[in-house]
Amino acid sequence: MKIALLGFGTVGQGFYEIFADQKQSLIDEFNQPIEIGKILIRANEQHENYKDLPFTDSFEDILSYKPDIVISAMGGVTTALTYASRVMANGSSFVTSNKDLIASHYDELHEIAKKYKVRLLFEGAVAGTIPLIKTIREDLRGNTFKGFEGIVNGTTNYILSSMSNDKIDYNEALLQAQNKGFAESDPTSDVEGKDAIRKTTILINQLFNQSFIDKDISGSGITKLPQRMIEFTQNNTAKIKLLAYAFKRDQIIYTHVRPVIVCSSHPLYFVDYEMNEVLIEGHACGKIRLNGSGAGKLTTGSAVFSDLYDFMLKPNQVTRYNPVEALTLDKSYETNAYFLPHESLKPETIKALVDNKICFDTENNDSLIKASGESKAKEILHSYNESEEVYIVLR
Ligand SMILES: NC(=O)c1ccc[n+]([C@@H]2O[C@H](COP(=O)([O-])OP(=O)(O)OC[C@H]3O[C@@H](n4cnc5c(N)ncnc54)[C@H](OP(=O)(O)O)[C@@H]3O)[C@@H](O)[C@H]2O)c1
Repeated sequence: MKIALLGFGTVGQGFYEIFADQKQSLIDEFNQPIEIGKILIRANEQHENYKDLPFTDSFEDILSYKPDIVISAMGGVTTALTYASRVMANGSSFVTSNKDLIASHYDELHEIAKKYKVRLLFEGAVAGTIPLIKTIREDLRGNTFKGFEGIVNGTTNYILSSMSNDKIDYNEALLQAQNKGFAESDPTSDVEGKDAIRKTTILINQLFNQSFIDKDISGSGITKLPQRMIEFTQNNTAKIKLLAYAFKRDQIIYTHVRPVIVCSSHPLYFVDYEMNEVLIEGHACGKIRLNGSGAGKLTTGSAVFSDLYDFMLKPNQVTRYNPVEALTLDKSYETNAYFLPHESLKPETIKALVDNKICFDTENNDSLIKASGESKAKEILHSYNESEEVYIVLR
């Protein structure tokens, strides 16, 4: 088994360390030699601790090595796409943790994999170490999926948890996340919600056999949180979470990535700092919650390694890709959950709602919050002489 690795940064090194640990047991299990024969790095890159590894700065070297499988741990899209296309055309299966690449060229990459009869695997691209893709594809195969919701971005969850729990402001929380290695030096795609949108795109495609790209999905990040929302969570038993959401009803997928306020009745309330959690709902399995670290060297390396192992288990499998006709995406807000309490609500009403574990959501335009008819919330509003017009949708 010949393996090539593209990129030797955080994920590349994490994967390599796990591979080195497991190599002998793979050889014993599969009874064949297994080797990482080439590792692509930049010409000026130095890796003092890994002096004996087969580094090259030539992509042509990778192709002429004729690997069975190429593991790509590079970021970016343009070069990563060229390399992905060329290695698959060269007959190698392709594994990547690069969600920007998968979410922006989902259909194209699958068609290439199908054409050249190779595998395309990307377990590490969504929610780090959490086994989501294979769980959906294989373990839950008997299900018609209703959808998913969850926290899929560790950087923003770290910032939001710090603001709500530790009562610090956005800039301080971001700095802390960067110092602890949970946020990149340029955190734009995380804090603006793009990273969560990419993961949402991939999950929608997996759950509903679609071929959307990230530009099809809308959402927002955490850079424009209303101060009132932050203060609300700091003064009440509530937290802000960047919720990734997609549920299908009839032939429509309701989807959004947006910050919401959740209170302690909701399981995501307890998912803090760098942790991720995804709830998947299927007609047969019901609701399944998967929780774990969303990013990191060994955690993501572990997900990437699982793709290598999957490839070794099923060496003759090819990519089966037959997306069904595109479903309609409804990107207007419709998560039946969490509204921010209208500013006209009396503090004692808010307290009663929170005490009764009624969750709130955020609408930047507070005045548009509309009543829905959930009985407990209505009961509370009535008992505090509030108008039903102010709010409420419950989860
Ligand atoms: N870190 C995580 O926890 C995590 C989790 C899930 C998914 N991911 C995804 O996995 C991918 C890799 O992430 P990472 O954190 O490992 O990034 P990283 O630490 O920046 O490592 C990527 C490495 O690949 C190198 N590289 C990029 N283009 C190259 C090229 N054309 N030739 C040779 N080397 C090249 C980079 O070099 P330069 O720095 O010189 O460009 C860098 O050394 C990204 O798509 C990321 O979004 C990361």
